[in-house]
Amino acid sequence: MTDSAKHDEILLSCQNVSFRYHKGPWILRNINLDIRRHERLGLIGPSGYGKSTLSRLLAGYDSPTEGEILWKGKKLPQKGFCPVQMIYQHPEKALDPRWKLKRSVSEGWQPDEELLKRLNINSKLWFSRYPNELSGGELQRFCVARVLAPDTEFIIADEMSTMLDAITQAQIWNVLLDEVKKRDLGLLVITHNNSLAEKLCTRIVDLRDINGAF
Ligand SMILES: Nc1ncnc2c1ncn2[C@@H]1O[C@H](COP(=O)(O)OP(=O)(O)O)[C@@H](O)[C@H]1O
Ligand SMILES: [Mg+2]
Repeated sequence: MTDSAKHDEILLSCQNVSFRYHKGPWILRNINLDIRRHERLGLIGPSGYGKSTLSRLLAGYDSPTEGEILWKGKKLPQKGFCPVQMIYQHPEKALDPRWKLKRSVSEGWQPDEELLKRLNINSKLWFSRYPNELSGGELQRFCVARVLAPDTEFIIADEMSTMLDAITQAQIWNVLLDEVKKRDLGLLVITHNNSLAEKLCTRIVDLRDINGAF
């Protein structure tokens, strides 16, 4: 693939995706959405419209009830490291509470010193602690470093900075956007904050416009 074809490549594609939990009401209906590598896509919409549900499908944690999600034209690999990585609103969701932080970074890999420094992560101190021994902002900075593993190709940030103070918000977005650009990663920003989406993203989709369930 040429560099320009790679840059323009469709990484994630939702094809007629519908989803409901168990036999409950439809949360997502007939979603069609392509996300290309070069764009930073913002997914907006009010609370309860299915943004987090869609993000879980895109990351392969749940399967669509109908339709398909494709990663580079195929099903997401079920085994090994997932190239699509999530950052959640609540960082505890991403981490096993019984594991010290060191164990929660991808096997055989450690974030490089420069990245740790930019995120103000004191690895000597933090890596031997459990998640509940760090503040919310510290834990979220760790989660940002953690998803920037060598095999990550796409990052979904689901309300990643909603709970944080303005300084920490700016810090983690700066680092994440720099890395996304440097490494040509795909990025999906999920937020109910439209002005944040406008600042960060190159394209914005309102879930209300593509979700037939509402
Ligand atoms: N595990 C679940 N079981 C049943 N319903 C759920 C579950 N998780 C979310 N929902 C419902 O799905 C809808 C969409 O939720 P969500 O995807 O979290 O929306 P958003 O992220 O846009 O706020 C809500 O009505 C929510 O109550
Ligand atoms: Mg949500």
